[in-house]
Order: sequence, then C-alpha cells, then structure tokens
Amino acid sequence: MSRAGKIAVIGAGFYGSTTAMRLAEYDIFETVVLTDVLEGKAEGLALDMNQSRPVQKFETQIVGQTTGLDGSGYEAISGSKIVVITAGLPRKPGMSRMDLIETNAKIVRQVSENVAKHAKDAVVIVVSNPLDEMTALAQIATGFPKNRVMGQAGMLDTARFTNFVAEKTGSPVGEVKTLTLGSHGETMVPVPSKSSVKGKALSDVLSKEDIDALVERTRNGGAEVVALLKTGSAYYAPSAAAAQMAKAVALNSGEVMPVCAWVDGEFGISGVYLGVEAEIGSQGINKVVETTLTPDELAALKTAAEAVRAKQADVKDL
Ligand code: APR
Repeated sequence: MSRAGKIAVIGAGFYGSTTAMRLAEYDIFETVVLTDVLEGKAEGLALDMNQSRPVQKFETQIVGQTTGLDGSGYEAISGSKIVVITAGLPRKPGMSRMDLIETNAKIVRQVSENVAKHAKDAVVIVVSNPLDEMTALAQIATGFPKNRVMGQAGMLDTARFTNFVAEKTGSPVGEVKTLTLGSHGETMVPVPSKSSVKGKALSDVLSKEDIDALVERTRNGGAEVVALLKTGSAYYAPSAAAAQMAKAVALNSGEVMPVCAWVDGEFGISGVYLGVEAEIGSQGINKVVETTLTPDELAALKTAAEAVRAKQADVKDL
C-alpha cells in the first residue's frame, strides 16, 4: 500500500477524533495531524491512536498538536493537502444548528485564517455547524477559490435516509439508494424520486405516508441523536461521511457525492453554498452535477437556497 501526504483535522472532539482515526485506518496518508485548543488533548488522542497501529495494521502516523488562539502550533499543519475543520460547539437538546452560529463563527474564522497561513494549497472540508453558513465563512476567511472549500452534510443526511429506508424495508443498506440535497437544516431536501430499493423506485416499495415519515425523520436525524445523547451531537456517521470525502480528494477519485458546494448557475441557482451532488477530485469540487429533479423537489431546493443565502450573507460580519 502506498501512502502519501499529510491531512489535518482541526478540533479533536468527538467528530474530529473519530474522523482522524478513520483517516489513519485507511492507511493512504503518510501523516494525519490532529489539533485542538485544549492543552494536551490532541497529543493524548494521537498517542492512543498510534498505539492501535499494530493491532489495526496501518502505518499512517497520527501527530497531535495543541494550538493557541494566537495561531501558535499551526506550523504542524503546514504542507497539508486537505484540512478538515471540526472545531466548534455541538448542539444540546432543544437547540437548532443555527443557535450555534455566533459562537462557531468566531471559532471557524480563527481556524480558517490559520489554515490559510499554514496550508495555503489545501482543500478544506468543513463540518462545524451550522454547516452551510460555516462553509461559506471558511471560504471567505481563507480566501481560497470556492471549489477548494466544501462542507460535509449531504453524505450524512443521505446515509441517514438510506439507513431508515433499509430498516423499514428489511433490505441490506447496499441495495438501497437515496439522495438528500438542500441545506443541513430545516430546508433539507430528501429526494424520493432518486431513491430506490433493489433497483425499484421508492414509491413502488413504500406508501406515500411511509416515505413522508422517513423524509421527516431524516430531516430531524441529527436532533434525534442529540435528544438521546443529551451531552453532544452525532459523530460516527458524520465522521464516516467526512472521511470518505477526504479520501475522494486524496485519491482524486472523481466520485459524485452529495456535498455542500458553491453553486453558480446550476439548477437556476447562483452565488450560494448549498447541498448538491458534485464530482470530487484533488482540487476539491470538479463540478456540480445537475441531477434531474421533479418540479416539487426543484422548488424545495430553490427555497433552501434562498434560506441559506440570507444567513450566509450575515456570516461575513460575524
Ligand atoms: N481551534 C481548535 N479547536 C477548537 C477551537 C479552536 N479555535 N475551539 C474549540 N475547539 C475544539 C474543542 O476544544 C473541542 O475539543 O473543538 C472540539 C469540539 O469537540 P466536541 O465538543 O466534542 O464537538 P463535536 O461533536 O466534535 O462537534 C464538532 O461538528 O457536527 C458539528 O455541531 C457540531 O459544530 C460541532 C462540530
């Protein structure tokens, strides 16, 4: 197995540490750098992860680094080809992702400015919430080309939808296809017309009531986990999604994935970061893929675009 390059994960909380672990276990990177502002947290987790190498049989080395709000410690990420930003507070029960906007905007701005200084050629994958707004802010604060900054949400929302459909129909997840576009929030757009079970249209397999219920459960998928955990938000499925996106960049795979990407004319929508399908390569987004949608789904996507556009306009001042 050949290993190449460095990838950095900023924020060593639940999301960041599980992402770093998954990336290391792929065994395709020379180094995974994990950073956090809490003294010793990233170093401790990296030490622990490295000690799993003989058991899990991978050679990638994990480097932990404490960073300061003054930017100290960021030298550790220099030369990273990919940076995954997970720093930021998670939700508590009853909170919407949007309730995090002011606090997380300060964190994501501080992180992004340091990423721009120390990893100026990197592709940035943002996962901090509220996702669509934090992705827009990371692009503004890094000043990177828009194709080199994307957000993780669609992969996760689609995975949730797929899992719910698989459970409902008693099918293996590998035989279920679904798609989720739009915002990572109230205007999420699950797309039943692009969803199928064993090659059969979802509407031939489930009743309208069942589909509506699964769509609603998908929209509230994050909140359902938060309500049960009480002290944080989801990270196993989210980190699986973010790590797969990073792998697609690292391998220049050209895979088409639902991600938060800059939309510039596709679907008749312009000038906004939005959940769409996109082809992923070594420079980030190669292109947005214009999936055929029903008139209702397209209208819902446009509504989502306007909802996030308004909020994204605000973040540049936060
Ligand atoms: N730089 C680096 N790390 C930071 C910074 C900063 N400026 N500010 C906070 N952090 C770190 C915290 O010290 C903590 O270790 O970010 C980490 C966040 O970890 P958790 O609280 O465990 O949150 P997590 O579940 O990982 O979620 C992170 O992803 O899904 C989203 O909504 C979620 O915005 C949240 C983010």
